[in-house]
Amino acid sequence: MNLPVYLYGQPVLRKIAEDITVDYPELPNLIKDMFETMYSSEGVGLAAPQIGLPIRLLVIDGSPMGDDFADCKDFKRVMINPRITVTEGDDATIEEGCLSLPGIHEKVTRPTVITVQYMDEEFNPKEEIFKGFAARIVQHEYDHLEGKLFIDHISPIRKQLIKAKLNNILKGKVNCGYRTKMQPR
Ligand code: NI
Repeated sequence: MNLPVYLYGQPVLRKIAEDITVDYPELPNLIKDMFETMYSSEGVGLAAPQIGLPIRLLVIDGSPMGDDFADCKDFKRVMINPRITVTEGDDATIEEGCLSLPGIHEKVTRPTVITVQYMDEEFNPKEEIFKGFAARIVQHEYDHLEGKLFIDHISPIRKQLIKAKLNNILKGKVNCGYRTKMQPR
């Protein structure tokens, strides 16, 4: 089932998400719906706050980026209760977008190597190192669990330049090919 994507202005996008336990209700269905929602909106990652749930759950499939970024080949994960434990490597600056901010693309600087501890969908504990664009996707989605958005990383000048676009999102004036849910009035 396709779920509506919560847009910039929704308070849930600014909350620090909570860990979940293995008995979280309907978890397999939720994960399935999140993948479906992500694929039909042509995203490469989706965090639970983006569908209105303040929980630490991410789905990622970077394989559409595999031609441009080798790190993304076969990069498909479910991450429950993730924690980024180490960031290292040089920083890189690359343009990002977000399903919660349709029509906005801005360059964001992030570290290129990260270590992440998380549980997979069967609650097996994992620790992995991600590099390059894969590391970027994880950091972008992880930010959502910390109540952050990629526009928080851009300069005040850039933010001023996209202000009209942000205001349009707040007013629900968006043109995208997926279901959305604007801020409550
Ligand atoms: Ni996003």
